[in-house]
Amino acid sequence: MEPPCLSRRRALLLPAAAAGAGGLAACAPEDEGFGTAAPVRAEDGGISLEDVPENASTLVNFGGQQPFVLLVRGEGEDLTGYSGYCTHNGCALRQEETELDCPCHGSRFDAATGEVLVGPATTHLPEVPVVIADGMVRREG
Ligand code: FES
Repeated sequence: MEPPCLSRRRALLLPAAAAGAGGLAACAPEDEGFGTAAPVRAEDGGISLEDVPENASTLVNFGGQQPFVLLVRGEGEDLTGYSGYCTHNGCALRQEETELDCPCHGSRFDAATGEVLVGPATTHLPEVPVVIADGMVRREG
């Protein structure tokens, strides 16, 4: 039986690592390890905008305390940051295709919007202010 394919919206918002694999990869079977993306490490507290794919979500390690931020990029400089930590009890989230999953108690969040998909978390991921300056994305504050 064929694995289910992702919707166009979901396919466009794949994790950065998966988005680079091409559009057809959205229909790849999960048992090939498709879609799991390790956080991208920022250098000197920033990441080049060129390293943040358009129409995708990218989990970034900015370093420091609470280092993980989910960057959701649309076209151009359309960029939103969300906390990479579960709103239930603060565990660091893992990106799995179009979701962020919490390894502690199983909450899941939409990697495009930060919305809760499955509890026990009841609160969406808060936005984290990010700025683009000189082609670099940095967490503000
Ligand atoms: S800390 Fe994430 S579900 Fe409990």
